[in-house]
Amino acid sequence: MKSPNAATETFPVSAKVAQMKMSSTLKAGQTAAALREQGCDVIDLTLGEPDFPTPEFIKEYAWEGMQRGLTKYTPTAGLKSFQEAVAAFYAEEFGAHFSPKEIIATDGGKQALFNACCTLLNAGDEVLIPKPYWVTFPEIVKFCGATSVFIETETSDFILTAEQVRDSISDKTKLLIINSPNNPTGRVIAKNELIKIIEVCAERNIYVLTDECYLFFAYPPAEVFTSAALPEDLRKFVCVAGSFSKTYAMTGWRIGYTIANEEWTRQMTKLQSHSTSHPTSFVQYACARAMDNHAASKAAVNLMLAEYKRRKDWLIPALQSIEGFKCQMPEGAFYAFVDVREHLGEQFKTSADVAELLLNEAHTVVTDGEGFGADGFLRISYATSLENLQTAVERIREVFAATAGQIA
Ligand SMILES: Cc1ncc(COP(=O)(O)O)c(C=O)c1O
Repeated sequence: MKSPNAATETFPVSAKVAQMKMSSTLKAGQTAAALREQGCDVIDLTLGEPDFPTPEFIKEYAWEGMQRGLTKYTPTAGLKSFQEAVAAFYAEEFGAHFSPKEIIATDGGKQALFNACCTLLNAGDEVLIPKPYWVTFPEIVKFCGATSVFIETETSDFILTAEQVRDSISDKTKLLIINSPNNPTGRVIAKNELIKIIEVCAERNIYVLTDECYLFFAYPPAEVFTSAALPEDLRKFVCVAGSFSKTYAMTGWRIGYTIANEEWTRQMTKLQSHSTSHPTSFVQYACARAMDNHAASKAAVNLMLAEYKRRKDWLIPALQSIEGFKCQMPEGAFYAFVDVREHLGEQFKTSADVAELLLNEAHTVVTDGEGFGADGFLRISYATSLENLQTAVERIREVFAATAGQIA
């Protein structure tokens, strides 16, 4: 008799997908959800999404869009009103000037990144990726048949420098992928350094993909800088991947965008015309209206930012006070990036073992650093209530108090 899994066992998966790894951040979240379903009182600190609802006024705009009949196909690159709203918003917020024709509405930041890489990379190309990196970057690069070349950044406090980029370039380098504010480290590259990095690339005709999905989540005095505000001679080498997932707490709506030169945009539009066509029509409308309503959308972002700040200001000192936990104050995004290498040895060989200990003994799910190219680290999301964070820290502290002395 055939085993029930015969179909999957024999499925002739393509070489491209066979070599891909399942997203480790999504996997960790699924573990938490499965345990909760079994009735386990589990605290999920893996969340890569805001725990806030989408602001009411944005939901109302979506409804308004549906009522206006925006329930049909839109142009592949998005509604004109969406493209114009992004351009006007960036001009007002950042003094960045580009044409609405340089914008594509995408199904989230992920599609923006996929579009950018798939239209640029060929087999044999090298892509520079600072380490630690967001889990999806190397997987997209692999999918394109290109090779990731990782840049170690621990010596510069996990902040990429122009010098590191210069030292990593080879004659095969085609692209650099930057993510600031950074997931998982929470670090922010300062404007001057970012410009220097892009200058180093532009001088050698190397393109730069800047994942700016946490652009609105930097804690002062850290200041973010969007590459969309670069002068034209540099901006022509850059594709900005933006997303509304974190900005307006819209993860499930699946909407993002790219800002890139007209030719790159034309090629990405061609690609998208054969994949998803475009993001949902009335969702584009809702985002366009939200950006037009600058005051309301800014107020919504600032409320979230203030709450993330309140949590991080409590969480980081609390984590630092746990034996063998080291972490810096994040400058942006909503993750604590914890160095647990002091705990590694005979008993716990990797940070995945530490994460498993926390799962089994503290019923607290965290993401281990391996998927980010950072074994020895844990990523702890504070996109959850302060109460949850306080309970989790207490549980973690107890586990390490109980294992003290047993740790190699
Ligand atoms: C660094 C980074 N880039 C892109 C994304 C993708 O976001 P989206 O939901 O817009 O696809 C995420 C989501 O967690 C992220 O952390």
